Amino acid sequence: MNYKTLSNFENLQGQLVLVRVDFNVPMNNGKILDNARIQAHLPTIKNLTDKGARVVIISHLGRPTNNEPELSLLPIANELEKLLDQSVSFCSGIDKQFIDQAKAALKPGKVLILENIRFFDGETDNDTFLASMLSNDVSLYVNDAFASSHRSHTSVDAICKFVKQKAVGMLMEEELRNLNIIDKFKQEQKKIAIISSGAKISTKLGLLRNLLDYADDVFIAGAMANTFIASQGYEVGTSKHEEDMLKEAKAIIEQAADNNCQIHLPTDVVCSYEPKSDLEPTAVSIDNIPASMMALDTGSETVANWIEKLKEHDLILINGPLGVFEVSPFDNGTNELFKQLNELGGYKVAGGGDTLYAIHKSGTEASFDFISTGGGALLEALEGKMLPGIKAITE
Ligand code: 3PG
Repeated sequence: MNYKTLSNFENLQGQLVLVRVDFNVPMNNGKILDNARIQAHLPTIKNLTDKGARVVIISHLGRPTNNEPELSLLPIANELEKLLDQSVSFCSGIDKQFIDQAKAALKPGKVLILENIRFFDGETDNDTFLASMLSNDVSLYVNDAFASSHRSHTSVDAICKFVKQKAVGMLMEEELRNLNIIDKFKQEQKKIAIISSGAKISTKLGLLRNLLDYADDVFIAGAMANTFIASQGYEVGTSKHEEDMLKEAKAIIEQAADNNCQIHLPTDVVCSYEPKSDLEPTAVSIDNIPASMMALDTGSETVANWIEKLKEHDLILINGPLGVFEVSPFDNGTNELFKQLNELGGYKVAGGGDTLYAIHKSGTEASFDFISTGGGALLEALEGKMLPGIKAITE
């Protein structure tokens, strides 16, 4: 892969540098729950401000449909100001005239954040008009947003055609190094395990099917596991699951068997009436989920069995927590598995916004060889796909 890095650009004094980051952090009522994705971009931002560049930052937050105020980047601009220990300007206007004014007012060594890029018309359409507007006066475009690079969106893809010079940021460099390591494991046909969770099979269907081609073992947790458990004829009570995906779940298990890949489902779960910490948790095997309760965490027997099985693998990739980790005690399964991974050999990679949050919440960073900021991006890269944002920055 052919790309320039920030070390190729030493002379940036007074130059306007546009940096795409992924500040898509977990939020609740305007509060940032975990700032790991912001911290991860600090080396890139500092490198540029230290060189006297005028740094314009773009990011998305969530999936806005109507420019919802709760998805504004203002709280993130405030957080960045604290982390950088310097003032950060925020441009709330999304029209060209506001953006151009804000860029013109930006001083060397200073940082400006634009409003949520998904508030702008055309961002998710890889639109050339928006790309041209964003790139106005820009000397250098930097893609540091690995976690967004699986999207063919304007700010990671089309933009690259409109800028004179482009480079990958320091976080992106690390992410690309990690992908190389993963690729080697695949080339050498080493034993690969993937632990995947998420709310819905329907949104992960393509990914799940592709995982079966190269993983030896896929461990499924979270709400997604409930659909698989239900597909095997078990009652899942009031657990979140997708009734219309039962056939699909069954078919995935069959496809896995044909591909010599084993799917592992929880054999026990922790239930309650609701995900509330003041409610008594009930540990049951999956054939005993009470009709009035929902599965909220993976059980301890499952965690112990999975850890035992994972001892066989050379590459272990974790994408997602094992339960409702935000609410104690339903974080036990996640915390235990992450903690015990530390005892295992192999190259252990975790990725995704929620996964990062769960790792920091449990203080289990030491269990991983690499913690990627990418979730979907990491899995798509693992499938061997060239991500649109990486292709555009390396062309
Ligand atoms: C992520 O959290 O995986 C990235 O920020 C991408 O977000 P998206 O799935 O909304 O494109």
